[in-house]
Amino acid sequence: MVNDWDIAAVSYSRVIGDQGDYLRQSLTNPYILGNLPNNGRGQKILDLGCGEGYLSRLLKDSRVTGVDASSELLRIARDRNTPGELVLADITQPIAITDTDFDAVIINTTLQDVEDVAGALRNVKTHIRPGGTLIITIPHPAFRRPAANWAKTVIGKLLRRDPFVRIDSYTQPFATKIKLTNVDSPTAVYHRPLSWYVEQAQSGGFRLDNIKELALTEQDVKKFNQPLFLIKFPAVLAMRFTEYEKN
Ligand SMILES: C[S@@+](CC[C@H](N)C(=O)[O-])C[C@H]1O[C@@H](n2cnc3c(N)ncnc32)[C@H](O)[C@@H]1O
Repeated sequence: MVNDWDIAAVSYSRVIGDQGDYLRQSLTNPYILGNLPNNGRGQKILDLGCGEGYLSRLLKDSRVTGVDASSELLRIARDRNTPGELVLADITQPIAITDTDFDAVIINTTLQDVEDVAGALRNVKTHIRPGGTLIITIPHPAFRRPAANWAKTVIGKLLRRDPFVRIDSYTQPFATKIKLTNVDSPTAVYHRPLSWYVEQAQSGGFRLDNIKELALTEQDVKKFNQPLFLIKFPAVLAMRFTEYEKN
């Protein structure tokens, strides 16, 4: 069955490139590498919502299994010689992999696109080893779409002021569709407050060990030719959890 991500796959993959877009290269890649046990070396890793597989290519010293519901993105992953196993599956339903000993599970910039987050976390619990590491990154729900948008007042435009973040609603979850920057077609996205994600993971049997609001630096914006005002607000919420046995 074709889904939104199959339709968006070619333009989305162009944005991601071989190593990730500027947010991944500046923010999520270093966070993930720095928070994986042994920086990922020799680790058995499950990447839920792996997209076109750039993380498997980045983590070349790990053994990565990528799972995604888009056959088109997985086709592009194979075309890009992505190493490791690539599995076509919905990450919110039981997945046809038998391994239950992954050292780490990564859900990178994906949970905001998933309706049934509890279902995805149940899969993490099934396939992670006891005491394993779960890394979740999402666009920061308070400062990025779909809840937050960049805006300027008329005066601000005339005076060429930086845009500000306009947020109409934060506490109430909602679903919508947006076109990601430079992607040709819209994909579904869900807004939930920051604490909602933490609570979901905690009630799924994961202990929060680290939480960071990742913002670009001046060096990053120069390197990737992005506007300087982006350094004022965190772009990504990144969290590391440890699996634990609930009593
Ligand atoms: C924003 S992309 C992120 C992809 C990749 N993690 C990355 O960082 O480039 C979101 C991905 O989640 C996948 N996805 C969304 N809902 C899914 C689901 N229920 N099951 C499996 N994959 C899903 C999409 O196909 C897409 O590849």
